[in-house]
Amino acid sequence: MKNLLKKIRSDAESAISGTDDIEEVNHLRVFYLGRKGRLTQIIKDLGKLPSDERPAVGKIANEVKLYIESLLQDKIILIKTRQKAESIKQERLDITLPGRIRKRGILHPITRVLEEIIEIFLSLGFTVEEGPEVELDYYNFEALNIPIDHPARDMQDTFYITDDILLRTHTSPVQIRTMEKQIPPLKIVAPGKVYRCDADISHTPMFHQVEGFMVDEEVSFGDLKGILEAFAHMMFGKEAGIRFRPSFFPFTEPSAEVDIRCLLCNGTGCRVCKMTGWIEILGAGMIDPNVFKMVNYDAERYTGFAFGMGVERIAMLKFGIDDIRLFFENDMRFLEQF
Ligand code: PHE
Repeated sequence: MKNLLKKIRSDAESAISGTDDIEEVNHLRVFYLGRKGRLTQIIKDLGKLPSDERPAVGKIANEVKLYIESLLQDKIILIKTRQKAESIKQERLDITLPGRIRKRGILHPITRVLEEIIEIFLSLGFTVEEGPEVELDYYNFEALNIPIDHPARDMQDTFYITDDILLRTHTSPVQIRTMEKQIPPLKIVAPGKVYRCDADISHTPMFHQVEGFMVDEEVSFGDLKGILEAFAHMMFGKEAGIRFRPSFFPFTEPSAEVDIRCLLCNGTGCRVCKMTGWIEILGAGMIDPNVFKMVNYDAERYTGFAFGMGVERIAMLKFGIDDIRLFFENDMRFLEQF
């Protein structure tokens, strides 16, 4: 039986090494190791051996089995590797196929302008504060001298979560939150998203503002003008036209609105400036003493100015965009231009 095993071993060896065909290899596996295979038959016959020979022969039979199995396995790997190498050789390389260009992300134009605005105010000595977009009625209106039935609330209709929790309509609540925590002198800008029930070519329900305010002894309207003019020149260039118009806000007195000469039409009139030649970019004024009282500041001692600018308006002027809604449609053809 030992000799038979040797013979099987060498037969299998030459048969396996003599083939290059997967199917043939599978055949050989059945022929030697299958249920009725040559080796299997012998292992079955082990029982007929005298019991003192059984262990030694059994051991050899097992070794032969493992050996043949490993030969079969190696052969299959060899054949598959060869086939793969062959098929790669035969693949034609088409060098005319354009490469796949991976698109590089860029900052959204609004983010860019927002960052530029903040840079300018940092260079003017301001620091940055932020406040929540979901805001209490108290901070958004009441502490800003807009009591519950004040008509100014109609100009800033918003989205209510409950009767006294809402999406902030402007960044001015950050004035109150900051003054509650800090004492003058203050020189702060507060960027962020704000919300209003509004939608047309110059309004979206969500937009961005940058609030700015300065509180100290002897802050004057002249300081406000100086800072805003400096800002306009840094943002739009030395030739930029800027004008102050008297206006009204419940939380500033006196109040002004500030316009920049329309850069889309050079002031001759277009749909963006509504044919006026000017675009309003911010509201501003001297902080109302009533507001100081709300945060327990000494209104006799301190004065301050505040302003709130619309970031989209500034971006429209800067990039010559005539419809604010383009910023938020997520059309790649638009966004890729920046
Ligand atoms: N909060 C005002 C608005 O959104 C703008 C403003 C800010 C006006 C600060 C005066 C002072 O319309």
